[in-house]
Formats: sequence, C-alpha cells, structure tokens
Amino acid sequence: HVYAQPAEVNRAVAGTIAKLIRERAETGKPCVLGLATGSTPVGVYDELIRLHREEGLSFKNVVTFNLDEYFPMQPEALQSYRRFMQEHLFDHVDIDPANVHIPDGTLPADEVAQYCADYERKIEEAGGLDLQLLGIGRTGHIGFNEPGSPKDSPTRLIWLDKLTRLDAASDFFGYEHVPSRAITMGVGSIFTAKRVILMAFGEGKAPVIARAVEGEISANLPASYLQEHPQAEFWLDEAAAAEL
Ligand code: GLP
Repeated sequence: HVYAQPAEVNRAVAGTIAKLIRERAETGKPCVLGLATGSTPVGVYDELIRLHREEGLSFKNVVTFNLDEYFPMQPEALQSYRRFMQEHLFDHVDIDPANVHIPDGTLPADEVAQYCADYERKIEEAGGLDLQLLGIGRTGHIGFNEPGSPKDSPTRLIWLDKLTRLDAASDFFGYEHVPSRAITMGVGSIFTAKRVILMAFGEGKAPVIARAVEGEISANLPASYLQEHPQAEFWLDEAAAAEL
C-alpha cells in the first residue's frame, strides 16, 4: 500500500487497528496486538489516541506484546521502549496495565532465556497475535532480528548490528552508550501473527524496502522472510517505495 504522505498511511493503519479492536469487542473477545517502537509507528499511536478521545475507541479488550527492548535497560530510562510506549500510547488510552507486555531489560542475563520462553507462552495463552505492527531497520531487521536471524528464531537475547547501534547513537548521546544487546521477539514469533503490517517512511528506507519486498528471501535481510507470510503487508509513503 503506497500513499503520497506518511499521514495518510498513519490514518489508514490506525483505522485498520481500530476496526479490529471494535470487531473483537463486539464478540466479547480480546484483541491481541504486537506493537513496535521507533519513530515510524508514532503517527499511528497519535491517531489511535485521537480515536480514543474523539470517537470513543476503547482499549479495554486490547492485550499488547511489544517486539523488543534494549538489554540491559531500566524501564524509566529515556531510551527505554517501556517508557516510549507509555508516553506515546498507553498513558493516553484506557488499556488495563495488566494487559501490556514489554520485554524486561532489567533481568539477570541467565534468567532471560526462561523469560523469553514465558513471553511466547503468554502470547499463545492470550490467543495469539491478531496483528503485528512492524518498522524496519536499515540492516533489514524486524524487531531486533538482525541479519543472520533464522526464519524460525524464537524470542531471545541478541547482539545488535553496528549499523543499528549507529542509528541509535543520537538517542543515547553517543555510539559508545548504545547497549550491545537487546531482547527481541524472534522471526518465528512474528510469523505466528495472523496479519503483519510493516510500515516505512522516507527515502532512507527505500533501498532496504526494495530488497525486503523484491529481493532474495534470505537471513541476510530478515524482513525478506515476510514474502513467505500468508498475510504480510507493506504500508509505505512514496519516498520509501521509490526503489520498488
Ligand atoms: C529499532 C527498533 C525497530 C524499528 C527500527 C526502525 O531498531 N527496534 O523495531 O523498526 O528501530 O526505527 P525507525 O522507525 O525510527 O526508523
């Protein structure tokens, strides 16, 4: 789906999410959303907050699982994805805090593997992801599944690529302060979602989008695996779609 402006993509994607939330609410069911951080989804979250305030969209039946978190990371730190999600969405809607799941960056390293297995079990117990929202990194990562990630990779602790850490350097006031690791839902975990919506904006994303959509399906570019997902959609502005 290619639109001239990011604002049009944001409205369309937020509308799709709102419709899903309402459909599930009408049948008395939870709506299970996989959510992403980064600058790309911020406009969708803004639009969802507007729909909550102006059109009575309720998040009471919404259960969320975020893709990733830096490791180690304190939840109140400026760069934490927990803080990001509170500030950009959760503090502004009527979601039950017990329904919000974001990987915990404060665990001792030797407890992370069990924690990740439990995270996947919680997704299953919630009924599975109805929809997974994704951005894309310049390495072709989804979540923090860097090049080399297998298609069936589980939720786990990973090492970040140098390019990913360089892209995050300004958030951390210097490359040397960017954590080397992160917890991420695996490609396999993302693939359990019934529907996947990947968003990308701007000319900087155009080369990686072209490779993800039209290039070889390969661990060298984890987003390319989405070509094999039964319901994966790319929602782009014209600049990000320029090399297709
Ligand atoms: C980080 C996140 C990804 C995100 C990517 C792109 O690496 N872990 O989930 O897709 O950044 O960020 P942005 O949307 O700011 O370009």
